[in-house]
Amino acid sequence: MTSQLSFDQQRNPNARGREERERILANPGFGQIFTDHMVSIDFTEGQGWHDARVEPYGPLVLDPATSVFHYAQELFEGLKAYRQANGAIVAFRPFANAARFNLSAARMAMPELPEETFVESLELLVQADRDWVPTTEGHSLYLRPFIIATQVGLGVNYPSKSYRYMAIASPAASYFAGGVKPVKVWLSTEYTRAAPGGTGFAKCGGNYAAAFVAQRQAVEQDCDQVVWLDAFEHRYVEEMGGMNLFFVFGDRLLTPALTGTLLPGITRDSILTFAAELGLTVEEGRISIEEWQDGCASGVLTEVFACGTAAVVTPVGSVKGADREWTVGDGTPGPVTLKIREELMGIQYGTRPDNHGWVHKI
Ligand code: PLP
Ligand code: COI
Repeated sequence: MTSQLSFDQQRNPNARGREERERILANPGFGQIFTDHMVSIDFTEGQGWHDARVEPYGPLVLDPATSVFHYAQELFEGLKAYRQANGAIVAFRPFANAARFNLSAARMAMPELPEETFVESLELLVQADRDWVPTTEGHSLYLRPFIIATQVGLGVNYPSKSYRYMAIASPAASYFAGGVKPVKVWLSTEYTRAAPGGTGFAKCGGNYAAAFVAQRQAVEQDCDQVVWLDAFEHRYVEEMGGMNLFFVFGDRLLTPALTGTLLPGITRDSILTFAAELGLTVEEGRISIEEWQDGCASGVLTEVFACGTAAVVTPVGSVKGADREWTVGDGTPGPVTLKIREELMGIQYGTRPDNHGWVHKI
C-alpha cells in the first residue's frame, strides 16, 4: 500500500536486543510495553499532512499550553497485527479502522487522514518492528494510532490549526487477565457515557476519561467492566467500557443498534456478518436490563458476550447493579460464544477461510 506521502524511515539505534525482546514477549500483558519505533505525521492548516516518518519510540516535547492538554481534542484507534501459522503477518480490517478514524475526526473537527496513509503508516511500523509480533497462539501486536491537537494557546474560538498523527505498537496477551474466563459486569445507572448528538460513536479520549469514574465503581463492586445504559432512562443496554455486547437467545444473536451513542465496533460488524453465515439469526435492536435479567431467569437468554479488538470475544458470566445481581446461564462460557470466538480468531490467525477479504497482509 503506498500513499501520497513519502515516509522518512529512521532505525532506532537503541532497539532492544533479541534476548530482552523474547523475555518481554514471553509475558507481554496488555498495553504496558511498546516496541522500538513509532510513526509521526504532522498536519498544518493550509499545508496539509507533512513530515511523515517512522522514528525511534520516545517521549514527546510539547508546550504546556498545547491545545490537547486543555480541551482534549484527541482521538484514537485500536487494531492488531497477527502472526499466522504460515508465518505471514496480517492486520484485521485496517481500512475499517481508517474509515472510523475519519468518522471520529469529522465529529472532533479534526483533519481526516487519507485511508491509504493510515494503513501505510501501520504497515511501516509493523515492518520496522516485525520481530515484536508475538509467535504465541492468541497473542498479537496491538496497534494504537492516534491524533492530537498541537496548536499552542488557550483560546476556544476555533479548532486547533495543527495536529500530530502518531502510531505506536504494543505486544499483547489477553486484555482480561483470565483469558476466556467469564467476566463480571457492573450496570452503571448513576453515570451516562453518551447522549444523542454527543460523541458516543467517536473513538475520542474524552469518552474514556468520562468513563473512568464508573469503571472505578465497577472495580470497587468486584466487577471487571462497566456496562453503559441509555442516557434517558438508564434502562437500555448500549455497550461496555471498551467493547460491544451480544445477547444470545438460543440461535438468535441480538446486539444493541448503532444509535450514535455507542462505538460502531469492527469486531461487532464482523460477527454480525459471519454469524449469519454460520446459520445464526442476527438482529440489531434494543434490550433493557429487565429483559436481560428476566431472560436469564427464564432461560431464554442463554449467553452474553463482549467483543472488541482488545477483548476479542469474552463471555459475560454475571451482572451486578445497584439493586440487582444475577448469573448468565450457569456462569461458564457458552457454546455460541466459544464458536464465535473460534471463528473470529480462526480468520485472524489464518486457520479459517477469509471469505470477506478482511485479512490484510503486511
Ligand atoms: N466499544 C468501545 C467503547 C471500545 O472502546 C471498543 C474498542 O475499540 C469497542 C466498542 C469495540 O470496537 P472494535 O471491535 O472496533 O475494537
Ligand atoms: C480496543 O479494543 O482497541 C480498545 O480500544 C479497547 C480499550 C483498550 C480502550
